[in-house]
Amino acid sequence: MTDRPIPGELVRAAIPAGTTEGYMPGFGNDFETEALPGALPRGRNSPQRCAYGLYGEQLSGTAFTAPAHRNERTWCYRIRPSVRHTGRFRRIDLPYWKTAPHIVDDVISLGQYRWDPVPHSSEALTWLTGMRTMTTAGDVNTQTGMASHIYLVTASMTDAYFCSADSELLVVPQQGRLRFCTELGIIDLAPKEIAIIPRGLVYRVELVEGPARGFVCENYGPKFELPGRGPIGANCMANRRDFKTPVAAFEDREVPSTVTVKWCGQFHRCEIGHSPLDVVAWHGNYAPCKYDLGNYCPVGAVLFDHPDPSIFTVLTAPSGLAGTANIDFVLFRERWSVAENTFRPPWYHKNVMSELMGNIYGQYDAKPKGFVPGGMSLHNMMLPHGPDREAFDRATQAELRPEKLDNTMSFMFETRFPQHLTEFAAREAPLQDDYIDCWATLEKRFDGTPEGR
Ligand code: FE2
Repeated sequence: MTDRPIPGELVRAAIPAGTTEGYMPGFGNDFETEALPGALPRGRNSPQRCAYGLYGEQLSGTAFTAPAHRNERTWCYRIRPSVRHTGRFRRIDLPYWKTAPHIVDDVISLGQYRWDPVPHSSEALTWLTGMRTMTTAGDVNTQTGMASHIYLVTASMTDAYFCSADSELLVVPQQGRLRFCTELGIIDLAPKEIAIIPRGLVYRVELVEGPARGFVCENYGPKFELPGRGPIGANCMANRRDFKTPVAAFEDREVPSTVTVKWCGQFHRCEIGHSPLDVVAWHGNYAPCKYDLGNYCPVGAVLFDHPDPSIFTVLTAPSGLAGTANIDFVLFRERWSVAENTFRPPWYHKNVMSELMGNIYGQYDAKPKGFVPGGMSLHNMMLPHGPDREAFDRATQAELRPEKLDNTMSFMFETRFPQHLTEFAAREAPLQDDYIDCWATLEKRFDGTPEGR
């Protein structure tokens, strides 16, 4: 016999054998976990009566008929069915959280843009009120595209829960620590880690160490998956075993609570009388996870030239057009630079994809100054960009010994859709007006001689 859980107390499944934390390893695995023994039906999903008086419920992350290798769903065994975690919704306004399509008439998105870190305010801001949309792309109504956000969190959500029907969220912390208490378990998240919160999952976000700031990619389209490695083979880049999904955890709390749902860009709220985090056991492959970016094994050039930055893709979300992602999440981390007779930084380029970058810590090799931790930059569809003058001089004049790029971690949200600036990004966030000047002194070096000037 097991002790009965104490009402109101958080009950978490046993820590899996071989691990020291409450997580199960693997990306997209078919997991099973129970916070009370015997809560999970064996060999079936929908018994006539579930153990402990629980309700069985399926959460479908893909269409029922999606191909087997893409089909994702999770069976939950919960204190109340989800329909009891909703009520009559009323529309609320979260004015800084924008959704595509969102094109502001007098804001020009055609340009190379860079921002200093968005400062914290003295106001208490939660995961919902502290979300600041920088760009939107595509159209949430057709489940294409994305939004990029900065979050500024100085307060926990208390008896308040959130669910996005619009999107999967990729969370990239830069400062502070957050705890995501979700229907399927608890994720603690710190800088150098990322989390993926699936579409439709109910959760609250607590501030563990503040203030907290970071980046969010809101993916309106099909889920993030690991990129195919092609000739690289079965290893390196992000390995499946390093992703961690939380064990089941539930709370039996009967207190007035709110649930906010994001649906087609609008926010709606209802009141309920209890915590919706009441899943005692679950099994399936549609679940949140986290990943330590320190485990990312970069692969690169070992003799001359260097590949496209896609070589550093951590996760990719497909768009339906082969090889053309709705979103690639690309990581530029510590690595060795060894290529001979090579211009080693990213080359000058124009790209049909739109590139939004953020700095988690350290110095990015193409921009030694100005692109600082917590800061962002945007190089939109077909806008030329590349190393600034200082990086060009260094790259073309340095003696090319093997060099460790240390203390550096930046990332890119790259999408096939053009990104539109929000009013916040254009007018309130600390935009660097002089960013384009970082290329201004790249003078003509051509003088008709093979050596140039
Ligand atoms: Fe680029």
